[in-house]
Amino acid sequence: MEASQLGVKKISVIEFGVAGGNGLLALEEISQEISRELGIAIDVYGFDTGQGMPPPNDFRDLPHVWEAGYFRMDVPALERRLKVAKLVIGNVTETVQAFLERADIAPIGFVSFDLDYYSSTVQAFKLLEGNHSVFLPRVFCYFDDIVGNDWEHHSEYAGVLLAINEFNNAHTSRKVAPINNLRHKRKIQAAWNEQMYVFHEFHHPAYCRHILPDKNWQLPLVPDRNGSGAV
Ligand SMILES: C[S@@+](CC[C@H](N)C(=O)[O-])C[C@H]1O[C@@H](n2cnc3c(N)ncnc32)[C@H](O)[C@@H]1O
Repeated sequence: MEASQLGVKKISVIEFGVAGGNGLLALEEISQEISRELGIAIDVYGFDTGQGMPPPNDFRDLPHVWEAGYFRMDVPALERRLKVAKLVIGNVTETVQAFLERADIAPIGFVSFDLDYYSSTVQAFKLLEGNHSVFLPRVFCYFDDIVGNDWEHHSEYAGVLLAINEFNNAHTSRKVAPINNLRHKRKIQAAWNEQMYVFHEFHHPAYCRHILPDKNWQLPLVPDRNGSGAV
C-alpha cells in the first residue's frame, strides 16, 4: 500500500536469515499475490550464510539459545524451489555493504529480521543507514527474535531488542518503532502482530508526502435531535 500510495512501481522485500528456506518461499508467494493485486513489481531477496549460524560473539547473542551450525541451508535444493527470489549468500557483515553498492535494487518496502543474534542484526541494520534511494520513507519490519520459547528470555539488554534500542539511540532521524495496536486493527489477531515495527526515515524526501487515499477528510457535526447543526 505504502508503495502504491507513493506512486512507486517496484519495491524490494528482504528476509534476513533464511535457514532451510520455508519463510523465503512463503514471502515469495505472498509477494507475487500482492504484486498482482496492487500492480507493483516486487523483488525478493534472502540473506544467509548458507552454512547456518556463525559462532556467537558474547552474551548479547544469547548463546544459551543458539549455537554455531544451527539452521544450515541446502542451497541447490532451495534454489530449485525458488521462482523469483534471489539468495544473497555470505555473512551479512560483508553482503549488506555489497548489496547497498548495487545500482539495480528497487526501494525496500519490507524486511523480515530473523538472524537470531544481536551481532548479526546490528550488521543487517547497516541497510537502514543507506541512501534514501535504497528504501521507502517507511519500511515495514518483522522481528522474529523478540519473543521466543520460555527459556529464551528476550530483554532490552541483549539480543534483537538491544540492537533496536542501540540503533534508535545512534540516529536522530532514523527510528525503528513498533506499530501500536496493530493486533486490534486486524480481523484475525495473531501473536506476530506484536512483532511488526516500522523503520522511519523522517528526512526521506518522500516522508512528508500526503498519502491518504481520501483527499478531503472532514468530520462534520452530526445533526442534533431537531435536525439542525449538520454542515
Ligand atoms: C532461525 S534461522 C532463520 C529461519 C527462517 N527465517 C525461516 O523462516 O525458516 C536464522 C538464520 O540466520 C542466519 N544468520 C545468522 N547470522 C548470520 C550472519 N551474520 N550472516 C548471515 N546469515 C546469518 C543463519 O544462517 C540462520 O539460517
